[in-house]
Amino acid sequence: MTVKTMEDLFVETLKDIYYAEKQILKALPAMVKKAGAKQLKDALETHRKETEGQVDRLEQVFQLFEVSPRGKKCEAIEGIIAEAKEHMEDIEDPEVLDAGMIGSAQAVEHYEITRYGTLIAWAKQLGKDDAIELLQANLEEEKHADELLSEIAEATVNQKAAA
Ligand SMILES: [Fe+2]
Ligand SMILES: [Fe+2]
Repeated sequence: MTVKTMEDLFVETLKDIYYAEKQILKALPAMVKKAGAKQLKDALETHRKETEGQVDRLEQVFQLFEVSPRGKKCEAIEGIIAEAKEHMEDIEDPEVLDAGMIGSAQAVEHYEITRYGTLIAWAKQLGKDDAIELLQANLEEEKHADELLSEIAEATVNQKAAA
């Protein structure tokens, strides 16, 4: 698709985050399995469930733009997920691995936060209020996941990893 208008640009970026969310959904179960700290395992599993809801919301946004939901390969998320997999394969110490996985998961959250921030700004400009609400709901979940990961890292995981 050729991008001619701001609406085209919005839809292209929506396809990017839709692809990213689906890849994240595929990657999370292995991370949940590998997580050592119970708090981390629970946080990742909760966010996996939230991510399912986020995919649904994105499908509703596609509907609002009268476009059928389709992903567009996002190299950025592929790279972040590849790094997370590398950690899971290479880091033997389970406590160091937890710290590494939190780092990877936060890289994912920050990618999502930047995408949703941009999409919300564009939706505002395009006057698509219904889309803003849906995107905002996803953004809040990403921010919350990011904050929770910071808390877990700072409260226990980092100390154990360094011990
Ligand atoms: Fe997400
Ligand atoms: Fe997320």
